[in-house]
Amino acid sequence: MLTPTLNVNNVELFYSFTCAIVAIGVGIMSWPVASQFLPNAFVSVNPKMEVDLRAVCCGQCVTINWFGTPVFIRNRLAREVRAARAVCLRKLKDKYARNANINSNALAFDRNRCLDVRSENWLVVIAPCTHLGCMPSVTKCGWVCACHGSSYDLSGRVTNGPAATNLSVPKCVYAVSALVLGT
Ligand code: FES
Repeated sequence: MLTPTLNVNNVELFYSFTCAIVAIGVGIMSWPVASQFLPNAFVSVNPKMEVDLRAVCCGQCVTINWFGTPVFIRNRLAREVRAARAVCLRKLKDKYARNANINSNALAFDRNRCLDVRSENWLVVIAPCTHLGCMPSVTKCGWVCACHGSSYDLSGRVTNGPAATNLSVPKCVYAVSALVLGT
């Protein structure tokens, strides 16, 4: 008389075990897809940080560490701003401004890349190359990435090489002599 009861329990146990294994398997297999929809660490943390711009001389570009993310802050000369603004949008590889402070459809005009009209000299961009993440070097014409030869102009827009997108402008606010990142 005990045998049928044991069989039912065994079947239930086997069923539960199989369901658990299937659930774990589905979870593991779907993680790469599901993770695409999660915000990355940079977006989810988005911490605030204030940078004193008085230390960045005209014509100078500094790299700051924004909680683990290198950011270029460039105080452009008037002629560098003019050169960045003279670039024809049609010639750009990536036509979008990639500026987190404005509409995502905004085009890559230099005025859409700098902070605001009071501060057109300041260019603030996430530093790693948009190809595979190497650190570009500062040049007179913008930046060059030594890894595979991508180059960026004085507005951080890609002009050459395998990189497909412009260096992105992070969330930030200009406040006369300071920059607040991550607002
Ligand atoms: S990582 Fe910069 S060009 Fe490849």
